[in-house]
Amino acid sequence: MLSKTSMTQATAIIVGASSLLSREIAKQLADQDVELVLLAQDPESLTDFAASLATKVTVHGLQIDQPQTIISTLESLWQQLQAVHLVVVNTGLNSYDPSLPWQPEADIITVNVQGFSAVCNTAFRLFTEQGYGQLAAVNSIAGLRGGPSVAYHASKAYASNYLEGLSMHAQRLKLPITITDLQLGLLDKAAMQQSRLWLSPPDVVARQVVKAMQSAKRKAYITKRWRLVAWLTVLLPEFIYNTRHWRTKEQRKAEKAAKKAK
Ligand SMILES: NC(=O)c1ccc[n+]([C@@H]2O[C@H](COP(=O)([O-])OP(=O)(O)OC[C@H]3O[C@@H](n4cnc5c(N)ncnc54)[C@H](OP(=O)(O)O)[C@@H]3O)[C@@H](O)[C@H]2O)c1
Repeated sequence: MLSKTSMTQATAIIVGASSLLSREIAKQLADQDVELVLLAQDPESLTDFAASLATKVTVHGLQIDQPQTIISTLESLWQQLQAVHLVVVNTGLNSYDPSLPWQPEADIITVNVQGFSAVCNTAFRLFTEQGYGQLAAVNSIAGLRGGPSVAYHASKAYASNYLEGLSMHAQRLKLPITITDLQLGLLDKAAMQQSRLWLSPPDVVARQVVKAMQSAKRKAYITKRWRLVAWLTVLLPEFIYNTRHWRTKEQRKAEKAAKKAK
């Protein structure tokens, strides 16, 4: 487990390390002397970044769409590292096309469901053999309800249930394996609507992620204010929930003006 006291000399694997958020998490863990193993689709793209970190870092390839490769990659890393304290899963795919073509849906399911499960299942098994550890996954409050990006919302609900199941197994096995579900707010939506109120800088998001992991939280809302949105999202009746939209204030104003002009 990655508690505050055990942070020194801890080792963490970050799966999906090339995203901005993963890099911020990596920086903050490196500053706390955590040895890092970064897994990314294009490992070479992380060479300079890895060299800039103040800790021991290695970078490896990640083929999230090939479960057997993920399993053998994690197993061989585990053997090389002796012990792994933390696995952070931050892979994810999202897209939105109102005509709902199949291929993007299939790609989301491959990455967010199949790939996610292969990583979490393998990490959990290896933690079980090791006798302890922490699995933390960057998830989304999008999983609380269905939504416009149909497969994405559904995949996030799947991820939450998968993590809860693993946590139940850890309790059944009476092993100190912590499962942390990091429920991020709808940051893309906030960015689209240029809402500075809801959009937090990546270093702030990463700080809250690291804090939630260190506190061995089972579930955390990041940033914290999204807890209220999550609470309301669950409570809203469907006829109100359905009226939410992805248009900006300006687009809505322009549409209203156009209607009035008719
Ligand atoms: N961004 C948001 O607003 C937001 C909001 C709420 C929750 N989240 C959650 O945060 C997590 C990460 O999302 P993000 O927005 O940070 O996405 P992102 O910046 O696009 O990063 C996604 C990560 O997944 C990896 N990935 C995607 N497809 C892959 C593939 N086929 N093979 C290997 N790696 C692949 C990417 O690697 P490459 O860069 O190598 O492709 C990247 O490291 C997701 O679980 C998402 O649900 C994000």
